[in-house]
Amino acid sequence: MNVQTPNYAALRALLPEPEFALARPLIEEINALKRERDVVILVHNYQIPSIYHGIADYTGDSLGLSVEAAKTRAATILFCGVHFMAETAKIVSPEKQVLIPDLEAGCSLSESITPDDVRTLRALHPGVPVVCYVNTEADIKAESDVCCTSANAAKVVRSLPGRQVIFIPDAYLGQNVGRETGKEVIVHDGRCIVHQEFTAEQIAAYRAQFPGIYVVAHPECHPSVVAAADFTGSTSQMVAALQRIRPGKAMLITECSMAANIQLEVKHIDFDMPCTLCPHMKRITLEKVLRSLQDDVYEVEVPEPTRSRAAAAIHRMLEIGA
Ligand code: 13P
Ligand code: SF4
Repeated sequence: MNVQTPNYAALRALLPEPEFALARPLIEEINALKRERDVVILVHNYQIPSIYHGIADYTGDSLGLSVEAAKTRAATILFCGVHFMAETAKIVSPEKQVLIPDLEAGCSLSESITPDDVRTLRALHPGVPVVCYVNTEADIKAESDVCCTSANAAKVVRSLPGRQVIFIPDAYLGQNVGRETGKEVIVHDGRCIVHQEFTAEQIAAYRAQFPGIYVVAHPECHPSVVAAADFTGSTSQMVAALQRIRPGKAMLITECSMAANIQLEVKHIDFDMPCTLCPHMKRITLEKVLRSLQDDVYEVEVPEPTRSRAAAAIHRMLEIGA
């Protein structure tokens, strides 16, 4: 989503006054530098409100941000998100400079699998297509036939010939997609450390306490959680569902910065839920973004031929269903 920043009204509403006072000069310096240097700042929905409302040019889910990365005319893309997202931007826009403010901003899913694991799965299931979730590093995408995100996983899996699909690395997303498409999905045992914590019992307890609460879950959750929810989709699809359905009370089964970020777009909704933060997403701060712009750190590089092999898997996904 293209956004007008800074949105100081949103930040005044969301941040305690001392936090706002500390953030404001950093936001001003970052925005001045980004204009001077022809930089576009892409911000994932899980980033802290001062980044989401203060410095973003585009906000969104993994799919939306990778489409923006492929389209942008800016000389530099600065990614406020995790490493696989910045790397995906570099894969689709190799001629651009891509910066990430903290190289340690990883992901438990992308860390769960190696290229050897993919080759072993292929050897065990010859001829079965390999679908990799975007939450993987470039060397895993390069070993795969097609990429997908949480926004289009079912569509990508349905488009493939045959009854079986190898889905890596998220076991729960793979199982959820298997249920939705009716395909036999062979999974790797990766998990998201944030979404694996939610349970169907938690949802039942919230429903008992708040009758009528509308439950929206990310598909990286366990299949029993997805079955207990009213709606499942990518982070941006979750926001769109809330805007469409306009429930009075809602529970967002995902990283909890998102509820704060979207609160003003869905003012009428009262959110009730446990707060679970992604430690990787939270490594990105305004201070680190400023340093990234001042010192050109950290530049994301993807060597050939890994980049072009990974790009083929991403472009196949974009052809099937952006
Ligand atoms: P989305 O693509 O749905 O934004 O998800 C990214 C992610 O890392 C979820 O944990
Ligand atoms: Fe990875 Fe989970 Fe964090 Fe998303 S929330 S970046 S899947 S660890």
